[in-house]
Amino acid sequence: MCGIVGYIGHREAYPIIIEGLKRLEYRGYDSAGIALFDGNSLKISKTKGKVSDLEERSEKEITKNGSLGIGHTRWATHGVPNDVNSHPHASNSGDLAIIHNGIIENYDSLKKELISRGYTFQSDTDTEVLINLIEDVKKKENVKLGKAVQIALNQVIGAYAIAVFDKSKPGEVVIARLGSPLAVGVGEDEFFIASDASPFIEYTKNAIYLEDEEMAIIRLGKEIKIRKIIDDSLVDPYVQELQMNLEEIEKGGYEHFMLKEIHEQPRAIRDTYRGRLLRDEAIIKMAGVEDNMKKFLNADRIIIIACGTSWHAGLVAEYIFEEFSRIPVEVEYASEFRYRNPVITEKDVVIAISQSGETADTLAAIKLAKSKGAFVFGVCNVVGSSIARETDAGAYTHAGPEIGVASTKAFTTQITVLTLIALRLARAKGTMSSSDFRLYLQELELIPQKVEQALKVDEHVKQIAKEYLLSTNCLYLGRGYNFPVALEGALKLKEISYIHAEGYPAAEMKHGPIALIDDRMPVIVIATSKGHYEKVVSNIQEIKSRKGKIIAVVTEGDTAVKEIADHVIEIPDSEEAFSPLLTTIPLQLLSYHIAVMRNCNVDQPRNLAKSVTVE
Ligand code: AGP
Ligand code: GLU
Repeated sequence: MCGIVGYIGHREAYPIIIEGLKRLEYRGYDSAGIALFDGNSLKISKTKGKVSDLEERSEKEITKNGSLGIGHTRWATHGVPNDVNSHPHASNSGDLAIIHNGIIENYDSLKKELISRGYTFQSDTDTEVLINLIEDVKKKENVKLGKAVQIALNQVIGAYAIAVFDKSKPGEVVIARLGSPLAVGVGEDEFFIASDASPFIEYTKNAIYLEDEEMAIIRLGKEIKIRKIIDDSLVDPYVQELQMNLEEIEKGGYEHFMLKEIHEQPRAIRDTYRGRLLRDEAIIKMAGVEDNMKKFLNADRIIIIACGTSWHAGLVAEYIFEEFSRIPVEVEYASEFRYRNPVITEKDVVIAISQSGETADTLAAIKLAKSKGAFVFGVCNVVGSSIARETDAGAYTHAGPEIGVASTKAFTTQITVLTLIALRLARAKGTMSSSDFRLYLQELELIPQKVEQALKVDEHVKQIAKEYLLSTNCLYLGRGYNFPVALEGALKLKEISYIHAEGYPAAEMKHGPIALIDDRMPVIVIATSKGHYEKVVSNIQEIKSRKGKIIAVVTEGDTAVKEIADHVIEIPDSEEAFSPLLTTIPLQLLSYHIAVMRNCNVDQPRNLAKSVTVE
């Protein structure tokens, strides 16, 4: 999910690649590396840390001449961030080098097969398996690099954007993509390769964007040849002249990182269950859970600790875990848990949720739980983060770097991981039939496309935002699974638009908050068709009769709420347990548009930091 830069042409590759990697720094990363070819030797320098650390290290390690090179900034998914796991990775022979963005799901079985054929591995990454698979195919089939890549990729399950180089064939680079972006800058007798156009926009505006399941052999002095990976058939290259400037490219054409990350959620959710949700075999595979199954099954309860949006994901998980696997769940603010001398025993399983993996309160709460003998499982988005290292086991969300301070794709991918765990435990405990299990797996696999569908309300939500951007207060209401979503929606609004907002269980209105209702109070109500629908409709009527303004999130096709609400936002139907993954989308978009219209700093709201590493 991070950054790739390559160059082949008449200039010195090093400065182009280093500057290009810096241009991709906005994507967030944990390590960086470069491979250069000067006509004789293949030189690799790589390091944990920043591109500036790579510059320092390569200054000492390699001569920087060479007009062919590939560079990489890593967002680790397999193997903690360290020097040896950084890219580029060389094959066993040392002839081939690769850089890779994405996840090779079946790397484990491929690695075992390659080890049985005598291959050895220096790193823990899935990427090093891929480069040795390509080498193995090249040798066995006695084919050139391009053909070897094509054959090898047909054995791979997963997502990739790769650039591969063979020092015995120095005039070419082979690239391929599935699920991760890859662009080619076409210059005068030179080619640039990158995750987006920012590294080469100053050299050429002529770009080719590879489509999924396409590969290309780039040879100096020749036309680029693009082929379909599946059958090697040729594809006509479409060269477009770019109009975007650097800043627009970094945000993928979106105005803010937050909006880009809201729209990345279908991919992020898919990447998060990729390799873990195996629908055909009707199994869920998560090493951190499998290896600790007894602890989960014998647990007296699960205690979830987190802060902010991650705490809201924990509240959703409480409903899911208790319904699916019948394990008692408590959800705690980490900042409260760590100071109230909680009763914790060795029969407790603690799940710590954190996007950054660096939140001080959550880290402290983990240490407290461990000191009292609890088993602690982490759900983080940053591989090798403090919380990931402190917990006894864990499962990563594969959301990719979240740059916007307001958490969006982290929330939905956290719920995805927690749902997978709850389903796996339900099967292990026998609290869910195999037919229901299969149904839920199929429905979960449909969520990315349903989120895609839900995102289509963007323009409609923007129109609604215009009517409420001057509000001073807002109420968010939801029931059941969607009560935490109401809290999350309120947090999104207040943290980026600075409008005061509160989330409540819908039924709680009559215990006080309804006194707040008047014709200046917008009330956002989640009223999807499943889960106490009729009761939510009567809550809406109570508010309506007091002149409250109703913005309702409903299941597409709803008619009853349409008659009483001032605005309705329709989202696709889904299993009730999965509805938070969809109902949160319009609330994210509403807060985003209101904040933009209020000229707030959406990506860096006042007083806030992306990771609260202090108390
Ligand atoms: C949510 O939009 C905020 N950025 C904030 O509440 C955040 O969720 C909280 O600080 C926890 O961060 P973490 O997930 O990195 O631990
Ligand atoms: N899965 C690869 C790794 O963990 C690539 C990660 C990335 O996209 O940067 O090294």
